[in-house]
Amino acid sequence: MLHDQYVTLRELRADDAAALLVHVSPPEVSRHIAPAPTTVEGFKSFVRWTHAQRRRRLHAAFGLVPAGNLRPVGLLQFWPIERDYSTAEWGFVVGQQYWGTGLFGRGARLMLDFAFDTVGVLRMEARSAQVNARGNGALRKLGAIPEGTLRSAFRQGTRVADHVMWSILATEWRSVPRAGDGQG
Ligand SMILES: CC(C)(COP(=O)(O)OP(=O)(O)OC[C@H]1O[C@@H](n2cnc3c(N)ncnc32)[C@H](O)[C@@H]1OP(=O)(O)O)[C@@H](O)C(=O)NCCC(=O)NCCS
Repeated sequence: MLHDQYVTLRELRADDAAALLVHVSPPEVSRHIAPAPTTVEGFKSFVRWTHAQRRRRLHAAFGLVPAGNLRPVGLLQFWPIERDYSTAEWGFVVGQQYWGTGLFGRGARLMLDFAFDTVGVLRMEARSAQVNARGNGALRKLGAIPEGTLRSAFRQGTRVADHVMWSILATEWRSVPRAGDGQG
């Protein structure tokens, strides 16, 4: 469990499924990401999968719980690209009512601190659909660097889109000013 005064990141629970369905599944939220479950049962099965993957050290999934809430309103996840997690990839989604509130940025910093400082990630990758202005904007704000275009990398039904490859290096992450250090 990771937390600051505004947000907690914690392991998903089976009884989070209904909240995840509300926040993650609407088409305007999931438009640019891999298809999310569309039922409570689907999310319960996803939660079980995250537990099994964590036990095998193949995936870390966190529910993003705003202070004062009991249930997650979004998800942050990362998984290894290299088996030893030296290179990893992350993904994220937050319920629309929380967009632009700063919640994502706070949760992302907690998870990235954990990934770089505790897990030992040296390079964290993210792929974002080129047309996903919010996703790309949020990554840029965190200090991620766009490295190039992955052509036709994202398929959703008949729709095919390009991805932007973003990365954050551990060395860069440690030089990013943090809230509370006088630079916002
Ligand atoms: C991606 C996501 C988690 C970001 O959370 P958020 O609260 O919306 O992010 P923020 O508001 O902190 O940052 C988004 C930035 O993109 C900017 N942005 C939004 N629309 C934009 C546009 N059309 N063009 C350029 N920038 C844009 C925002 O203005 C904001 O920057 P600012 O704070 O400087 O104004 C959230 O939007 C989400 O869950 N989206 C759906 C799922 C998704 O796309 N996941 C990403 C997969 S890579």
